[in-house]
Amino acid sequence: MIKEKICKYFEQDIALAVISGLKKGADCEFSKVTVRPFTSNDGVKYQFEYTVKAQVKHKNVSADELVGEIADLLENYFTQCMVYGRENDYHINCFNGKIKAKTMPPSKKVSIRAHNKKKEYILNEGEDIDFLIYLGVMTKDGKVVKAKYNKFRQINKYLELLKTSLDVLPADRPLKIVDFGCGKAYLTFALYYYVVKILGRKADITGLDLKEDVIDYCNKVARDLGYDSLEFQKGDIKDYDRTQDVDMVIMLHACDNATDEGIVQSLRFNAKIIIAVPCCQHEFFRQIGNENLQPMLQFGILKERFSALATDSLRAQLLKALGFDVSVMEFIDTEHTPKNIAIRAIRSGGFNRKEYRAYEAFRDYLHLTPYIERRMKEENILK
Ligand SMILES: C[S@@+](CC[C@H](N)C(=O)[O-])C[C@H]1O[C@@H](n2cnc3c(N)ncnc32)[C@H](O)[C@@H]1O
Repeated sequence: MIKEKICKYFEQDIALAVISGLKKGADCEFSKVTVRPFTSNDGVKYQFEYTVKAQVKHKNVSADELVGEIADLLENYFTQCMVYGRENDYHINCFNGKIKAKTMPPSKKVSIRAHNKKKEYILNEGEDIDFLIYLGVMTKDGKVVKAKYNKFRQINKYLELLKTSLDVLPADRPLKIVDFGCGKAYLTFALYYYVVKILGRKADITGLDLKEDVIDYCNKVARDLGYDSLEFQKGDIKDYDRTQDVDMVIMLHACDNATDEGIVQSLRFNAKIIIAVPCCQHEFFRQIGNENLQPMLQFGILKERFSALATDSLRAQLLKALGFDVSVMEFIDTEHTPKNIAIRAIRSGGFNRKEYRAYEAFRDYLHLTPYIERRMKEENILK
């Protein structure tokens, strides 16, 4: 379980990892373990150096074994792991199987490239992928249609994002997943294909959208493909009511406050995972203000971009305050769409006052009254 939780921190080249902080009463002869990559005839390997009093012992492991070895150390002996990577440094804390990680800018030079293999997608050209063929992304013989290549990459990038999230969901029962603002639902079909056909999980998946014609079309596609546990409903996110719990909620490019409504709904039905790629964040453009920021806010385009970033920062921070482990990452290259920031939130604890204060401080600094906060208060999610 710890392995699944920490693998995302090693999806980058690393310079060094340091595992330390012995657990109370741990029966362990070594006090610290450092891990460094090195190049061998068999490709990149990792040397584990165990500090035993004034001496050290070594062991080499393959790239495939790296995360499992570190997870074992955290499971049995240690409480902390510091990862120094090419994209980020992470300070990971592990207590009673729970992982909390702080993300920091990279601080060490990474000279060994371990992640340089040709990119293997989850869905690959040449495979017979029924929904991609039906939706015209692939030809019948598995070739990606040139004009749809960006869509194909976007679908794969989305599935990568899901891949590292789904492990936290229960494995012993069917999953419930909702996709708010599904539109033509390329990504909802991809989600179904991945979860049900590739992973072999039972899942009840619903796509919701305002547009009736789109919903009718998507239901027809689902029927034609025989995707039995995928359904589409017409409706507004804020009116969507479901008495059962939902495991995961997805909102991809749900415009402006529709993303906020989706987040509020996710909290109402106790979603364990929320994935949002927001767009058209207009709300703060009208509100944002701070004399010290005038050099930036005086220019419309900068104000617009900053307002969008501030919106997503506050959404992410509020989710942290509500006990989620939040990551914010690039969804797809900006060359294809400027709407490329994904917020992934995984429920991991309860209300955190310190994080909420950080939210309030940022909100007040910019003189904002966020819609999402008002809605959370109306729904008694926030006091
Ligand atoms: C830009 S499209 C994105 C479609 C799809 N998720 C994707 O990423 O390809 C946004 C969709 O959200 C839907 N939408 C916007 N506000 C909504 C709301 N309040 N309730 C339900 N759907 C909404 C729109 O009808 C539209 O189809």
